[in-house]
Amino acid sequence: MTAASQRGGSFYDSPKIFQRYRDHRHSGAMSPNHVMEEPALLDVLGTVTGLRVLDLGCGDAAIGQTLLDAGCRSYLGLDGSAAMVEAANATLRGTCGRAERADMEDFSAPPSSFDLIISRLALHYVEDLEAVLTACQACLSPGGRIILSVVHPVLSSYDAGTGKPRTNWIVDDYFLKGPRLRNWLGDSVIWFHRTVEDYVAALMNAGFALSALRECAPQEERFDGDLAELARRRRVPLFLLLSGTRI
Ligand SMILES: C[S@@+](CC[C@H](N)C(=O)[O-])C[C@H]1O[C@@H](n2cnc3c(N)ncnc32)[C@H](O)[C@@H]1O
Repeated sequence: MTAASQRGGSFYDSPKIFQRYRDHRHSGAMSPNHVMEEPALLDVLGTVTGLRVLDLGCGDAAIGQTLLDAGCRSYLGLDGSAAMVEAANATLRGTCGRAERADMEDFSAPPSSFDLIISRLALHYVEDLEAVLTACQACLSPGGRIILSVVHPVLSSYDAGTGKPRTNWIVDDYFLKGPRLRNWLGDSVIWFHRTVEDYVAALMNAGFALSALRECAPQEERFDGDLAELARRRRVPLFLLLSGTRI
């Protein structure tokens, strides 16, 4: 793989990666997103009625459909992968939502364009997080919110790489922030590691008040009775979710 294809959006344009991601993402009780990240997100989200929503790194925009069904006024998804944007627009067909190809690093919009910005499992692909969050702050309405989830810093710090289902985890180089070439979906991609403290500081420096911090503990009711999988998922944190309110 070339370096370019190891960067966020273009990584997901590989048909093999794209398919593996979607299989993994929509695998019900076996998907950590389903049993850990999504319940925390929905809890922090609250009511979305009437909100204009922007989703950065929207993937196939499955959440867009959910938010529109829940009464949000509009949904715009941006993603760096053309394949993901095509999938997102297929998901959103027949709704007022839409998706466009764009790199988060280039994003800007006029003041008060959105009331809610979400970004799920995408901002650890971005090197200058504070710049992206500052652009988000600038286009939110007064009191608008951002909710973001990322790979937990415990996980992004280091990968001993056993390739087996995770039952424990070695944390190393935790305070060494920066790029990590990681094995993900059977190939290599660059994640940008930062600590929990770095994430909170970036949010606050960009002009947000921290309104929630969740580590996305697994939710038993989502495991379809698979108690062994629940026990395994209780061992290692996978996701960090933060919410900020525009000051
Ligand atoms: C792990 S997927 C998450 C997708 C979706 N948010 C979800 O939860 O299913 C990460 C997404 O971020 C996108 N992405 C990565 N880096 C990006 C960048 N710099 N700009 C825009 N999108 C990016 C990828 O193309 C991919 O769709």
